[in-house]
Amino acid sequence: MEDKVLLRIRNITKIFPGVKALDQVSLQVEVGEVHALVGENGAGKSTLVNIISGVLRPDSGEMTLDQRKYAPANPRESQILGIGFVHQEMALCPHLSIAENVFIGRLPRKLAALADFEKARVETGGLLKKFATDLDPKTKVQELTIANQQIVEIIKALSLDCRLLILDEPTSSLTEAETENLFQIITDLKSRGISILYISHRLSEVFQICDRISVLRDGGLVKTLAVADTSEDEVISQMVGRSIEAFYPAKHPNAGEEILRVEDLSCGKKFQHISFSVRGGEILGLSGLIGAGRSEVARALCGIDRYEKGQVYLYGKKIRFNNSYEAIQSKIAYLTENRKTEGLFLKLAIKTNIVVTSLKTITRRKLVDRGKEESLTRKYIEILRIKTAGLQQKVLNLSGGNQQKVMVAKWLAINPVVLFMDEPTRGIDVGAKTEIHYLMRELCNRGIGIVLISSELPEIIGMCDRVIVMNEGLKTGELVGEEITEENIMRLAAAKKNKIA
Ligand SMILES: Nc1ncnc2c1ncn2[C@@H]1O[C@H](COP(=O)(O)OP(=O)(O)OP(=O)(O)O)[C@@H](O)[C@H]1O
Ligand SMILES: [Mg+2]
Repeated sequence: MEDKVLLRIRNITKIFPGVKALDQVSLQVEVGEVHALVGENGAGKSTLVNIISGVLRPDSGEMTLDQRKYAPANPRESQILGIGFVHQEMALCPHLSIAENVFIGRLPRKLAALADFEKARVETGGLLKKFATDLDPKTKVQELTIANQQIVEIIKALSLDCRLLILDEPTSSLTEAETENLFQIITDLKSRGISILYISHRLSEVFQICDRISVLRDGGLVKTLAVADTSEDEVISQMVGRSIEAFYPAKHPNAGEEILRVEDLSCGKKFQHISFSVRGGEILGLSGLIGAGRSEVARALCGIDRYEKGQVYLYGKKIRFNNSYEAIQSKIAYLTENRKTEGLFLKLAIKTNIVVTSLKTITRRKLVDRGKEESLTRKYIEILRIKTAGLQQKVLNLSGGNQQKVMVAKWLAINPVVLFMDEPTRGIDVGAKTEIHYLMRELCNRGIGIVLISSELPEIIGMCDRVIVMNEGLKTGELVGEEITEENIMRLAAAKKNKIA
């Protein structure tokens, strides 16, 4: 009988300085199955798939692919053997075009070894269409939104004709429609006998698309479960070793005084005539499809980007921040959706990253007070349960979700009065996500105003007291309390200017 197992992993262990990232992990991926890998932030998921794809080498243990010994020395080797890999952290070349990125290192050749860019473009165009996007293969990757960059990563892996496709949090910045497209593609690959290893913190997706689930906890494999015989609750309790309930904290409909008011804010085609206010004690949602202009408005308000017209008032006084430093001085913070390129100093210690926004409060006569620096860092490591080997750990070496928590910590550390949070829980595990949600509510109860930008509708609905919906740079409506439903948001998110009431 033919062996159903494509990839067999036996007793893999991987140790980093100070952490056992994987501890004797064994599991099997069958031919044509969609196999989920779940676990809390830092559980070892990315480490395991990095080993499978030859990015890292294990300290001990072995693997077989098609019953043959499999020990890739580098990613190229795994690629040749049919392993496609979409990284959790984007690994594209920003200054190259989409097509060049998709075909990097293996551009089709014409006569005399000349690269055939035209062919690369046409093929890339075809793949992009499968994804129902109208992106131009010639566009430079740096001009793309994060969501579109993620699509390019996926297309790149698909173009490789792989037997095992590894997706490390592929949907974390995709819209629901894009996620559905991806699932369509996964179903299609599966029917062609291709196996998928799927990492996600979104259990509803895991249950929708996967056949089996392997749960990792603290580097060890807890269990492999068949989706048909388990439930989300069971998976969560296996992941965290306890059960978690109450997904969203109770709302607080009685907002306080207005803190920030925006009137008629416009900036070219990015957004026009945006007006709203943020009150103390409330969570205001900015909803809309990716590209609606939500982040652009927030960035302009926080002095990161410019706006052309309009007024902004803080506690009734007209202000304009020319840079983010000025915004921080007024305790207005923007948590970026883009942690890798602008949110963190990846090569510096956790400590440095957390205190960077509050250097003023921990410095005396130009000297950083090391004691204060440490206590501030420890406080947030504890509050946010950041999993790290120590305060000196480089952020680069933290798991994706723990990097996200460091970014949240650095903004909490300034005690903001208004905090814009752009996709704050992207890549964060269920337990920590609930903790961040409770923390957001607690901050509100202490009087700060939060503006939440999220592409996850349940998060907007579960968290916000008030929601502003945008489409194509315009505000298409505002919803309060009971009006905040999926249906109302979707309707406004698709509404056109001439239909605005
Ligand atoms: N290069 C490295 N050097 C040191 N420690 C590392 C390195 N890479 C990962 N780690 C540590 O190994 C552990 C497992 O990390 P990993 O990235 O595999 O987690 P994960 O399950 O993918 O988490 P997440 O859901 O947050 O992405 C973490 O404690 C992390 O800090
Ligand atoms: Mg990871």
